[in-house]
Amino acid sequence: MCGIVGFISSTEHDSNLVFNGLKNLEYRGYDSWGIVADTDQQLVDQKFLGKITSFPDQIPPSFISLGHTRWATHGGITLDNCHPHFDCHHQVALVHNGIVENYQSLQKDLKNHRILGQTDTEIIAHLIEKYRQKHNLLESVRLTFNQLHGLNAIAVMEHQNNQIIVAKNGSPLVIGLGKNANYLASDINAISNLTDQFIFLEDNWLAQITPQNVQIFDSATFKKIKYTIQKISSSLTDTDLNGYPNYLAKEIHQQFQIIKNINQQNLNQPINQILKLAQKSDQIFFTGCGSSYHAAYFNSLIVSPKINRPVYSFPASEFSPYDNFLTDKSLLVVFSQSGETIDAINLVNFAKNRGVTVASVINSPYSTLHRLADICQILPCGPEKCVLSTKTFTAQLALFLRSIGQDLTDSIFDIQQILKTRYLSKINLLAQKIASYQHIFIIARGNSLPIAHETALKIKEVSYIHAESFSGGELKHGPIALIEPGTPCIIIAPNDSHYDDIISSATEIKARGGWIIGISSKNNSVFDNYLSVSDSGLSTALSITVIAQILAGQLCQIKGYDPDKPRNLAKSVTVK
Ligand code: F6R
Repeated sequence: MCGIVGFISSTEHDSNLVFNGLKNLEYRGYDSWGIVADTDQQLVDQKFLGKITSFPDQIPPSFISLGHTRWATHGGITLDNCHPHFDCHHQVALVHNGIVENYQSLQKDLKNHRILGQTDTEIIAHLIEKYRQKHNLLESVRLTFNQLHGLNAIAVMEHQNNQIIVAKNGSPLVIGLGKNANYLASDINAISNLTDQFIFLEDNWLAQITPQNVQIFDSATFKKIKYTIQKISSSLTDTDLNGYPNYLAKEIHQQFQIIKNINQQNLNQPINQILKLAQKSDQIFFTGCGSSYHAAYFNSLIVSPKINRPVYSFPASEFSPYDNFLTDKSLLVVFSQSGETIDAINLVNFAKNRGVTVASVINSPYSTLHRLADICQILPCGPEKCVLSTKTFTAQLALFLRSIGQDLTDSIFDIQQILKTRYLSKINLLAQKIASYQHIFIIARGNSLPIAHETALKIKEVSYIHAESFSGGELKHGPIALIEPGTPCIIIAPNDSHYDDIISSATEIKARGGWIIGISSKNNSVFDNYLSVSDSGLSTALSITVIAQILAGQLCQIKGYDPDKPRNLAKSVTVK
């Protein structure tokens, strides 16, 4: 979603610095972008619709600059709505992440202002302009920021005023400290090549940044805040495709090594602490969004019998009916790739206020969910660049499978076979046939149901085919009405206690003309097509997931779409 990058320096830099930072944020998803820099005469800006391609030729070298990638929420994808936004006199420039929930009422006080677009952001620049008549820039930003409702991060600069003011509530912001230069970004990845010293801003902090100094204040009381500087090495970025055609392919292939590493790791990790805590907690909730919710769901199913306690799983965005059951004896385990998903963060903040112990299982060190959690398990995946979650999802599963005592050796060998050309071609033949269909159904039971949900999500988000997952048990209660002659149905049938039941479901679908594609370690005469996996017990879920990811990627390729940047999607979902 939206990204912020900026710098202020005592020497001139060209806009490459901000440009490269924005490129490092591309993976988060965006639909327009812009940069502003100050010159002796004026603030100069350039805005673009679509992808970051060429360097902005009209932005001169400067001592101070801000850049932004926008993922449209309020107002269409137009240059007027693209950031940076300005006041009426083009003196104040502003970039913003988040949503100003009360922007319509705030706009009522700005009757004489020239507002060009439809965003919630632009009014912030005009409010600052209003306060600027009586106050300095820092105080004007503070007064404005305190009026904004919602989860927001802003960065503001002014013509011929050697400072950048930033403030945040909910949406992340980090300041990087350099030599006679300071940097800021909404994601450490954007500036991790420029410095190794960082200040992570907390909610309702306001910072005044000059080339030599950073001062931080509480935005409500204006009291100075003592902050800590964290030293973090820049090994976070692994941006090479290493010969793969896209990040989806690269990250699917990386899973073999990642799961192998997890299998070899010593298990004395936060994850064990999480399981120990689960045994002592009154209620245990696993949560996340999208693929991370599917991982939470799968892990809840495998952990529950292990600790002989119910483990409940819910999407973080749908947790509110259970709010009242969160107590200081509850454990909330939140799964996330980015560590910045707003629905998960909101739930964690709520839970912490109720005294709940919060554990996070995330792939992004130093993210908000890392900092908020009482215990944090970092996934050993390295950055995930493709918008689709792949290696994070299987790592979330692999870690929990290991933690309940599963040996992953068989599934690692199986994944190695699946990633070989022969197996890939087999999936490709199938994908060629499926690609012409508008609907595909994925049916599973028990522990495989979250894997069916994940398969459907992968197919729909990257191939735009309507893919829907159903529980085999629920099939006859409605979904079977959708089956027509030829309808492709993937049946996930590991060799577990549900095998016979799921084969019965397949038989019922076949009786109505459905096309049965079985993914199983046991072939069956009901399968029209068969994708074999080895029987590795609970860990079979890993091999099945990898097949699903490959199928989704191939459908995308056949249909000619970009697998790394599916339409309408963002990597980091930082707004509600
Ligand atoms: C699917 C996908 C999304 C994310 C979801 C949560 O491929 O990537 O469904 O899983 O937006 O994101 P994180 O895991 O960053 O909290």
